[in-house]
Amino acid sequence: MGEGGSQIDSVMQETRLFPPPGEFSKHAKIKNLAEYQELWERARRNPAEFWADIARSELHWFEPFTTALVWREPNAEWFVGGKTNASYNCLDAHLLQGRGDRTAIIWEGEPGDEVRWTYRQLHEQVCKFANVLTSLGIECGDVVSIYMPLVPELVVAMLACARIGAVHSVIFAGFSAEAVAERNRDADAKLQITADGGWRRGKVLPLKGTVDEALDKSPCVQKCVVLKRTNNPVSMRAGRDYWWHELMEDASHDCPALPVDSENTLFILYTSGSTGKPKGIRHTTAGYNIYVKKTFEWVFDHREEDIYWCTADCGWITGHSYVVYGPLSAGAQILLYEGAPNHPAEDRFWALIEKYRVNILYTAPTAIRAFIKWGDEHVEKHDLSSLRLLGTVGEGINPEAWMWYHEKIGGGRCPIVDTWWQTETGGIMMSPLPGAIATKPGSCTLPLPGIVPAIVDEQGSPVPENHGGWLVMTHPWPGMLRGIWGDDARYREQYWSKVPHCYLAGDNARRDPDGYYWIMGRIDDVLNVSGHRLSTIEIESALVSHPAVAEAAAVGRPDELKGEAVAVFVVLRSGEPTESLKSELRQHVRKEIGALAQPDDIRFTNSLPKTRSGKIMRRLLRDIAAGRATVGDTSTLEDYTILAQIRGDQE
Ligand code: WTA
Repeated sequence: MGEGGSQIDSVMQETRLFPPPGEFSKHAKIKNLAEYQELWERARRNPAEFWADIARSELHWFEPFTTALVWREPNAEWFVGGKTNASYNCLDAHLLQGRGDRTAIIWEGEPGDEVRWTYRQLHEQVCKFANVLTSLGIECGDVVSIYMPLVPELVVAMLACARIGAVHSVIFAGFSAEAVAERNRDADAKLQITADGGWRRGKVLPLKGTVDEALDKSPCVQKCVVLKRTNNPVSMRAGRDYWWHELMEDASHDCPALPVDSENTLFILYTSGSTGKPKGIRHTTAGYNIYVKKTFEWVFDHREEDIYWCTADCGWITGHSYVVYGPLSAGAQILLYEGAPNHPAEDRFWALIEKYRVNILYTAPTAIRAFIKWGDEHVEKHDLSSLRLLGTVGEGINPEAWMWYHEKIGGGRCPIVDTWWQTETGGIMMSPLPGAIATKPGSCTLPLPGIVPAIVDEQGSPVPENHGGWLVMTHPWPGMLRGIWGDDARYREQYWSKVPHCYLAGDNARRDPDGYYWIMGRIDDVLNVSGHRLSTIEIESALVSHPAVAEAAAVGRPDELKGEAVAVFVVLRSGEPTESLKSELRQHVRKEIGALAQPDDIRFTNSLPKTRSGKIMRRLLRDIAAGRATVGDTSTLEDYTILAQIRGDQE
């Protein structure tokens, strides 16, 4: 574990335990711990057979597969010889079962406009748009770049690509032209799909303008389809740009799904590595499809009548797996919302839940912390009694935020599924099964069936209980990435070279005496203070448990005496940024964790620099804390002005 060789000391004490509510378990698919354990053991004994049984019965096969798994480390092939289609599994499969009139998508735009589509209507849109793609020359294996607001047509675009075997690369609509161009070039994208604009906090995001700039720098893209959403003026280049609605007018709605090989690439999705260039994570068809379907059903205990809302954008893996492919394969009724959570007011999410009687809410800790900061009065205005299950994803949730979510949003009755996974893993890897596994605030609890994690030191040896170490996966699973687009060497090096025969997740974790996993942040978020290794998230959790603190980020800065000193950046919920509050916060961390974690520097700021997916950019904060100039890739940074502000505070 780095040069010191010492373990990461875990100092967080969290003893609260929340067993699944009896009423919930009674109706759940997996009703108790014994059932979960039986399933997990069965999967562990023979993972290939376990997944083969599920895939055979739950996906449609144009041609059955002959071998469940061919594993030539680090390359997995699942369901070899089979032919299926993810768009078919999400749409046609339900129509054939007489479920065409079931609601597929309920969508609300930020201005309050509404669309409802049944599975039949969604199917029709997808078939028509798939024909549009074909008419524009797109074939199986071609890459289509998608840069759209969160509108139902974004889902249509993704499923239409899947229908004809094309590969989608969805780029979050907040990225810059430079970032879009870089991703288009790397993927060698042929076609761009975008919109004139999207709504965000009452303003139009001029997406087409950004695309025009991006396409100048990514000449591989020859054509561009533009959806009219906001009616802002855009320039349309003749011979390159086409209006979505004009192409759709003439398109036939007859488009049988193309049978594709199990290992046909379904999509690539770019994600930041710790350095330099973004990585195009590649996922394929059958393994990914069955993995997200099954994990969706297990983790969200999906029931026929549920209205399910995952607040993620389709520009992120959560949107791919748990807005589109998982829920739609399972025939779920999904809610989509285009805009910001605080428009027109801070209660927009709660108003949506009340209006559509949402049963399952899946969101991110960064959003939860914002809600806490905005105040309980926004929540209390609304009837949230339809909710029966809550989920989180994206980063660790601080126990205090977990408790707030549990009490204020869940009314104390809804289990919380804290789901740990990554762009690379395709779907959820560790999470409570809500009817079976008791939760502890801040822990993602236990691995899902078929997933066999371990926590190891840098020699690859398992570490003892409650000791931090590298989180690895010891077996391939169907949803795993199949590589980095165009860079096999980086795939091997990044994920398979450090610990022999294991997938290195890049996170630190520990396992408590109950076998529960606690994620302790990224490997590069580990601090070494006086020879003690500390995880940033534990310090942040301690700070956030103080009533004055809304959000905090902890980083290390070089220190002659201690090796690393703890520097924290704090966003206040209330109170004044005074010296006395600083010493109070120091005392608070000392009390919560111990003297070794006491911050040396505390800086107050109005907000933290974040990636557009909401992750704190600790790399930038480390540079600021150390007084270094900011270096590296900032293409994912949400708001550049925050950086200037934090630096300014220093002077
Ligand atoms: C972090 C998001 C703690 C983790 C699906 C992981 C989490 C990275 C959790 C992947 C969680 C995600 N608890 N940490 N429940 N979920 N992470 O690729 O560091 O955007 O490696 O995928 O987010 O982020 P990504």
